[in-house]
Amino acid sequence: MIITPQIQGCVARNCHPIGCRAAVQQQIASVRAAGPFNGPKRVLVLGASSGFGLASRIALTFGAGADTIGISFERGPSDKGLGSAGWYNNIWFRQAAEQAGRIAINLIGDAFSDTMRQQAIETIRQQLGQVDLVIYSLASGIRVLADGTQVRSVLKTTGQPFSGWGLDLERDALVQQSLAPATPEEIRDTVTVMGGEDWQLWLQALQQADCLAPGAQTVAYSYIGPESTYPLYRDGTIGYAKEHLHATAETINLQLAQIGGHAWVSVCKALVTKASAYIPVLPVYLGLLMGVMKERGVHEGCIEQMQRLFAGKMYGPNGVVADGNRLIRMDDHELDPAIQAAVSALWPKVTPDNFHALGDFAGLRRDFMQLNGFELTGVDYGAPVDVASLTELIP
Ligand code: NAD
Ligand code: NA
Repeated sequence: MIITPQIQGCVARNCHPIGCRAAVQQQIASVRAAGPFNGPKRVLVLGASSGFGLASRIALTFGAGADTIGISFERGPSDKGLGSAGWYNNIWFRQAAEQAGRIAINLIGDAFSDTMRQQAIETIRQQLGQVDLVIYSLASGIRVLADGTQVRSVLKTTGQPFSGWGLDLERDALVQQSLAPATPEEIRDTVTVMGGEDWQLWLQALQQADCLAPGAQTVAYSYIGPESTYPLYRDGTIGYAKEHLHATAETINLQLAQIGGHAWVSVCKALVTKASAYIPVLPVYLGLLMGVMKERGVHEGCIEQMQRLFAGKMYGPNGVVADGNRLIRMDDHELDPAIQAAVSALWPKVTPDNFHALGDFAGLRRDFMQLNGFELTGVDYGAPVDVASLTELIP
């Protein structure tokens, strides 16, 4: 079978499993090139199959020799298709980690459920004893609560409606997009799905089960962004959820004091991932930002961000480098005033005819395709993919 990309709006409907392997291998090579660092040896990653979670896992295993348990919600092969990119990322990561002599276990299922918490606790006890670090990197549109209630997050603004050019990845074109103001219920629900409550439940359960090593740390990923994007993000429903996440870091930190541990939030830079491509209007900011940051030689992808986080700002010579609010600022380069001034000068000039000339929308598009295993160098996309052998692979 020859696989060609199927993109619908800003969502990829398929993936190229062999290309996903090349993407994982590229991230591993980048971590190896950056050199080893002294990091945690036993790590639990929630949201391990793509984006920041996968990059974290790769950085820690191949940079610091960590054994990992990764939790994710992914689809395997079925009569509906070959399965999701994250499904294959898990498989290729595990194979490479095992080849390097590391433990890598993938748990597939709903990380919001108590069943998964129990499964993780049992797996930690059997395979790792305890963990030194818990990474919280879930991005989801839905959370099923313990009583079965389904809560959905929305991507809306608050106050006034906001509209602007958005990116249609399917047609490589700009389209008008708008964000309506959220109702109080929509804000509350988005906080329930993407805020800190579930993070806290995880750390409580792990601590009660004696699965956290003395001095264990936890980090969750967040975004703040520049003022120009506040209506899209910080003052939007997702921004409220992130505020809740930041506040929860304080609560968890108090709880971890019992074992000498700490909770942090890493405020990351804006990057192309499955989750961020879906936020209205934001990808236009992202394309402009990528152009400016590449021009100035400070561009980072997911893997470079995560390598710098662990090697430089969490487990480097200065220990954890955070501000007074427990925030580790990985958005330092993005928020550099010179970079933001350059982006802000370009943004009002963007039209459907000139956007490719003003920003790095080709780079953004390539990154998006590569998340799904397409457009990687060294992969022969004309060669048929052996579906039967892929179907036999287990995470
Ligand atoms: P992503 O979509 O690439 O990854 C999300 C992960 O969560 C996947 O591994 C997925 O399988 C897992 N997941 C989702 N629902 C699940 C469930 N119910 N059970 C188990 N696993 C589940 O997204 P990402 O961009 O890497 O986002 C991760 C975190 O980083 C989010 O908190 C996001 O807000 C934050 N962040 C992203 C950006 C960005 O620009 N992409 C910037 C800063 C912070
Ligand atoms: Na992730």
